[in-house]
Amino acid sequence: MNDKHLWHGRFNEAPAESLMAYTASIGFDLRLWRDDIAGSVAHAQMLGECGVLPRVDSDTIVAALRQVESEFANGTFVLVATDEDIHTAIERRVTEIAGAVGGKLHTGRSRNDQVATALRLFAKREFTATAHRVLALIDVLDRRADDAGDAYLPGYTHMQRAQPVLLSHHLRAHAWAFTRDVGRLADACVRLDVSPLGAGALAGTSLPTDARDAQQRLGFADVFANSLDAVSDRDFVAEGLFALTLIGVHLSRLGEEWVLWTSEEFGFASLSDQHATGSSMLPQKKNADIAELARGKAGRVIGNLTGLLATLKGLPLAYNRDLQEDKEPLFDSLDQINRGLVALSEMIAAATFNTDVMQQAADAPVLVATDVAEWLVARGVPFRDAHAKVGALVSLSLTTGVPLVDLVRRDPVLGAEAAALFASGVAVQRRSSHGAAGPSAAVAQRAELHRVISALQKRLL
Ligand code: ARG
Repeated sequence: MNDKHLWHGRFNEAPAESLMAYTASIGFDLRLWRDDIAGSVAHAQMLGECGVLPRVDSDTIVAALRQVESEFANGTFVLVATDEDIHTAIERRVTEIAGAVGGKLHTGRSRNDQVATALRLFAKREFTATAHRVLALIDVLDRRADDAGDAYLPGYTHMQRAQPVLLSHHLRAHAWAFTRDVGRLADACVRLDVSPLGAGALAGTSLPTDARDAQQRLGFADVFANSLDAVSDRDFVAEGLFALTLIGVHLSRLGEEWVLWTSEEFGFASLSDQHATGSSMLPQKKNADIAELARGKAGRVIGNLTGLLATLKGLPLAYNRDLQEDKEPLFDSLDQINRGLVALSEMIAAATFNTDVMQQAADAPVLVATDVAEWLVARGVPFRDAHAKVGALVSLSLTTGVPLVDLVRRDPVLGAEAAALFASGVAVQRRSSHGAAGPSAAVAQRAELHRVISALQKRLL
């Protein structure tokens, strides 16, 4: 069997080396071994259950599959040259172990439903594992938010200082984005939880198999309805890649902020030595390479998603070899996102916030302008008029160099009470509306975040 190809009956010549070099997927689909074996065990047991195979044959095949499983687990499985993919390799080894009966494993099955089954099992497990890593990052952000106490920093719009916000509020803003990512991965797991096993090459089989039996053995929630759809559907890969890509985009935005925050210009945070890099030439440098790569790798995972979508868009039903191109982008995005989640979680957990620098920046008088306008609104002045009045004072302060707070104090309508808004920390205290950036709203937000986190944890169990 070793030197024979799966289709040797129809062919007189062995595949060319160039064909194998170009089309073999063993170099990357080896990591599906666990899932391919699980699919084959369920298939063989189903064949025995339905009487398609004698029970003894089914048992012999399952025992051989268990042996192959332990060979993979302890690293003794040896590939041979004709192993073009993980499915071929495992069937070849099963036949070496079990003898001719191994040739019965592929009864009523094709590599087309086999690979779709293995990849769904893999995706279900891996998406769940990644979701747990996202939850771990959320936990770091939430803990750092708790540690931040009443520290505050400037909030920005258009990268211009706008209004002061609590540091905890800023950190939790990122946490909220990641909670949606966990939900998206969980949603993808619900939709992919369908067994394609039993669809055969494209049209099912004439043998009395039982796709429901195999589905239940594999722990899938449902079984396919249409064999053509079952073997050609890679929506679950595209959907998973989108969820991973959006995590990548969120990590990138977080990374970009940390690049800014750790710069000398901002100085809002300092990285631990363990999570920063130095320069080969410039002795003074301490660089935020993790944060930069979080930004850089987002481009790559976006490419993986768009690449797969381009692969899928031209495919007629049902299986086409193009579909083999689903795996590398999925594996790569999982690897990159998983590493990024861990690295950023650790980097943020170990960093120091320079809260005095943040506070100084946030105490800049212009950040109080909106509060002065709202102070006027509370006394019956239409907001547009209040906005114009304070805007004019800001302009006057800028042209004359007289501090804004002095102009406000001297103003007959504003006076000392309005000038008191400029005292350090007052403006952030006043951000009290629903979901706002101040301490009074923070309590409810924290409770709501914890409620959402525990609901997500339950979904992932
Ligand atoms: N390695 C292939 C893949 O990943 C397995 C299916 C091959 N099927 C076929 N008819 N050539 O898609």
